Amino acid sequence: MRSAALFTALLCAAGSGVGAAAERPAPDGENLYRHGQLPTGALLAGSRDFGANVTGETAACVNCHRRSGLGNVEGNIVIPPIIAKYLYRTRQANVLDLTLPHVPGFTPNGWAYTDETLAQVIRTGVRPNGQPLNALMPRYALDDESMAALIGYLKNLTTEPVPGVTDTTLHFATIVTPDADPVEKKAMLEILQRFFAMQRDVIAAESRPMRASREIMYRVTRRWQLHVWELTGAPETWQRQLEDHLATEPVFAVISGIGRREWSPVHRFCEHNSIPCLLPNVDLPVVADNDFYPVYYSRGVLLEADLIATRLFDSTAVQPRRLVQVYRSNDIGVAAAEALATRAKAANIAVEQRAVPASPESRGASSSGAALKRAIAGVDRNDALVLWLRESDLAALRGDVPTRSVYISGLMGGLESAPLPVRWRAATLMTYPYDLPELRRVRMNFPLGWFKVQAIPVTAERVQTNTYLACVILSETLGHMLDSFVRDFLLERMEMMLSRRLVNGYFPRLGLAPGQRFASKGGYVVRLPATAGDKLLAQGAWSTP
Ligand code: HEC
Repeated sequence: MRSAALFTALLCAAGSGVGAAAERPAPDGENLYRHGQLPTGALLAGSRDFGANVTGETAACVNCHRRSGLGNVEGNIVIPPIIAKYLYRTRQANVLDLTLPHVPGFTPNGWAYTDETLAQVIRTGVRPNGQPLNALMPRYALDDESMAALIGYLKNLTTEPVPGVTDTTLHFATIVTPDADPVEKKAMLEILQRFFAMQRDVIAAESRPMRASREIMYRVTRRWQLHVWELTGAPETWQRQLEDHLATEPVFAVISGIGRREWSPVHRFCEHNSIPCLLPNVDLPVVADNDFYPVYYSRGVLLEADLIATRLFDSTAVQPRRLVQVYRSNDIGVAAAEALATRAKAANIAVEQRAVPASPESRGASSSGAALKRAIAGVDRNDALVLWLRESDLAALRGDVPTRSVYISGLMGGLESAPLPVRWRAATLMTYPYDLPELRRVRMNFPLGWFKVQAIPVTAERVQTNTYLACVILSETLGHMLDSFVRDFLLERMEMMLSRRLVNGYFPRLGLAPGQRFASKGGYVVRLPATAGDKLLAQGAWSTP
């Protein structure tokens, strides 16, 4: 089943805009390899004996051989590594050469390519030993200039150890922004530190010397080292701080991390430096279709905005006369409200955005209450009211519910423990971009059991579980990488293995098609039970808007 699906995907090779470098103009070889564009600007064209010819983005090598050039194996389809280092050597040399790690698609052969025979196989689909390539691989009638650029690019793709990787150690960073919630931050760091300590113990228990074991069965024996990069001051200064951290502590990848209102400087830093940034605890990620390195659990509040839009505007039910949205002017609700407003306008529904001034943490609930009361004034039962508010604001809501169509964000409002006043509970719908508590209970035995064994108190369950899951995913991905510590390959392996995982904590399933950067794509809309602690009342099935 799986390989049939892969086969179809490869056959169509839908150009997913994998990793287009937005700002820097790509040199000729990279442009051809990744985007299917020839140096002249014309489109790359590939032909196959059985038809199904491909052009442009769909013909690009990246679709099959991947951005790293290290290929892929799935079921009985083998896509070989095509970086020059592999092609220009015989298998015999490979066994002895420890700088050439094993990758799954590598097939032994007794001969080596040259510039001429490589050009020939790309043009004719026949290997120098007379063996024709699998029909899936298109033939490319490239002119000499394009061929030279392409082969030059294959020679530049590398498996050289990258910064942050030594013979004994893999270095990782985690990033903490100054506005992160202190309890959640502490909880996240504790999980990371314990997980890394556990990984070190496993490695220490392994007695075989690394080099010898690698010749026998290629395995990851390096210990992991965590660096905590705590940012300070204004977001405009973070980029600089991150560059400084990286210069003094080179890392292979960034794992987990935590932010609150602002994450985009971190995202840009990772993309700019080609560093994988894996699964941070943030509820407003950056959505940038062509970026390759930052990977998130979900689109966070933007996903919640889509869940609300689907219910309010796409259903056959009576549509609201007007959409009124309330949010703090300095919080992530601003972006969510903007996204939802765009959907409302497309559905010809009037929108009113009501920003409540930022509240310094010191101001009490009573002044919050007054500000919110003003923000909600005039809303009537024909309106839909959406509150992009945190727990303290929800707790400060007063008076009667003005309409039966009230929505709150589960991510901002505290999910099932959202502190809504009793009168509001029954009338309010909440977006819930996780699996329902009773459906995830069995899966949660894994993280919760680990916390227990490690004597880690549960102080911020969602953050702790997602951080633990990020560590487990990293560990499994590294296991699939064998010894090829290439950053692009890390992300490709993660794309490969993620959808096969079954135990994903809060998430019913995760998956990343090549180029996708949000692993969970849906959620529920629920009603809070009359009594806190009772079951959430799901309004319909899991939906992926
Ligand atoms: C639709 C998927 C697809 C695309 C696109 C594709 N390839 Fe391939 N390629 C394959 C497959 C599958 C094989 C393995 C064929 C076999 O083993 O018989 C292969 C094999 C090769 C080989 C032979 C490697 C060896 O070990 O002998 C080279 C070289 C190669 N491809 C280069 C390229 C280049 C360069 C591009 C882009 C211009 C490209 N491929 C685009 C699927 C693809």
